Amino acid sequence: MSKVYGEGETAVHALREVDLLVRRGEYVAVIGQSGSGKSTLLNILGCLDAPSSGRYLLEGLDVADLDERQQSILRNRQIGFIFQSFNLIPRTTALANVELPLVYAGVSRRRRHERARAALELVGLGQREDHRPNELSGGQQQRVAVARALVTTPALLLADEPTGNLDSASTADVLELFDGLHRAGRTIVLITHDDEVAERADRVVVVTDGVLTERVGDGAQRSSTRSGVAT
Ligand SMILES: Nc1ncnc2c1ncn2[C@@H]1O[C@H](COP(=O)(O)OP(=O)(O)O)[C@@H](O)[C@H]1O
Ligand SMILES: [Mg+2]
Repeated sequence: MSKVYGEGETAVHALREVDLLVRRGEYVAVIGQSGSGKSTLLNILGCLDAPSSGRYLLEGLDVADLDERQQSILRNRQIGFIFQSFNLIPRTTALANVELPLVYAGVSRRRRHERARAALELVGLGQREDHRPNELSGGQQQRVAVARALVTTPALLLADEPTGNLDSASTADVLELFDGLHRAGRTIVLITHDDEVAERADRVVVVTDGVLTERVGDGAQRSSTRSGVAT
């Protein structure tokens, strides 16, 4: 699939005939310089944007066949987003932040509490559920954001430079958390410009001026895939 912004003379070819297949349970790092097309790719994987040509299949479903409302339901249920800047709601507790996607999903109050508590336990913050973001370190805030991304049990975790705002100790914590999620079978696509971060993944995909190349792995076994981008 390809993505072009604008048209005519000013058109920007952000992604050029990208063919990426992410297998269930895989941990894929996307690495590339600023402006190479990483966020464009992540936006398409996260159903926040659509390719200009080609298709994106998530769990075998062509996202373009869905209307806006169905796409937003799909995003809420199947995608967990983790951002560089955490994007937590400042004046509310860790627990309430983690519960939020379940509010949108219409989960009952009691089930929300249970599931949000379990997600906070999983990221090692069971003792911090009543803390507000400004009472937590950067690494802890990012772990709350990971709990929020996980709480809906999405098919795909998408992280855009998740360690970009963290010091080295917190980076190590968050990367360990991702390693654990990977071992537990979660599917993760992580964007980074940092080689050391990328090397933690199973597979490293390099984006250069909108062109995608595989650094490690074979990219074969297409028949076993359940979600991915196809040209
Ligand atoms: N909404 C947009 N409109 C026009 N051009 C865009 C838009 N978003 C990104 N671009 C351009 O597409 C290219 C890829 O951008 P992006 O995916 O944000 O790269 P990265 O995340 O790797 O820094 C860049 O040249 C950028 O300027
Ligand atoms: Mg970007």
